Amino acid sequence: MVLLLPHKETVKPIKGFILLLLTILVNIQNLYTKMYNNLLTENRERILIITINRETKLNALNLETLSEIKAVIASAQTDEAVSGIIITGAGEKAFVAGADIAEFANFSEAEGTNMAKNGHDIFFSIEQSLKPVIAAVNGFALGGGCELAMACHMRVASDNAKFGQPEVSLGIIPGYAGTQRLIQLVGKGKALELLMTADLISAHEAHQLGLVNHVTTPDELMNKCIEITNKIKSKSPIAIAAVIKCVNTQFTKDQPGFDKEVELFGKSFATEDFKEGTTAFMEKRKTVFTGK
Ligand code: COA
Repeated sequence: MVLLLPHKETVKPIKGFILLLLTILVNIQNLYTKMYNNLLTENRERILIITINRETKLNALNLETLSEIKAVIASAQTDEAVSGIIITGAGEKAFVAGADIAEFANFSEAEGTNMAKNGHDIFFSIEQSLKPVIAAVNGFALGGGCELAMACHMRVASDNAKFGQPEVSLGIIPGYAGTQRLIQLVGKGKALELLMTADLISAHEAHQLGLVNHVTTPDELMNKCIEITNKIKSKSPIAIAAVIKCVNTQFTKDQPGFDKEVELFGKSFATEDFKEGTTAFMEKRKTVFTGK
């Protein structure tokens, strides 16, 4: 038997070509997986799955994560390989447990005001995305997490998820439009109850209230979100974008409540109750508010 081996001179360019191919593949992989410090992204059959990836902090939203969300949502709008977006949280415990309390605990009133303005803009960009955005709520969706889910076009929750706006326990109010979007989704009476008691509610209760579109088991959560996105994906993208635009005319940013929230969120940072609420959280103790 004669073994046919390529000539030494032909092996070199082949090796070079394989190396080049591997480098290109690794770079493509990096583009989709390592561009962000706090997000994982994956394109699964034209659905962009964004995973907020700060599991040890229950995926709390620090400013860097927020700006990464802004960037990924913006780039998805012009990416022809994306027809729909799903946002979820890393791990089994939390979707997002709120804005990062340790980060904002020492913010001034002006920084608090900017924080709310920035959050409002980013969450509006999600609401106004012309490609469908679904929140796959896989655990705690508290404060900024509930607000992030509410900014999405739909919410699907696993049956272990918990929703709430617990900001008053920290001596502040919601700052990412929770006081506005909660009313839109559950009505004034229930919104006021949730906002003032800081109660957490189960996925099933959130479903009964209309805060959540569907409840699944944790294992079925992503499949359900993909199933809904695939259904939408099969329709005309022009018609889908038009539906989103029409619906959003009812939910514009120029309602006075949004500005009022930014103003009063900022003001709450100048209070002793804010200091007490955030310090107590970090010291893992009960709060003693003085109303100052
Ligand atoms: N900001 C910053 N860190 C947060 C956070 C947040 N919003 N939520 C949770 N974490 C951190 C905790 O500080 C803890 O960090 P550590 O391990 O370094 O101490 C870690 O995530 C795990 O949270 P922990 O409180 O130990 O988990 P738990 O199971 O006992 O409680 C919650 C879970 C969600 C009930 C509790 O973390 C909580 O109340 N979080 C804050 C919710 C909130 O008020 N959100 C609104 C913010 S505006």
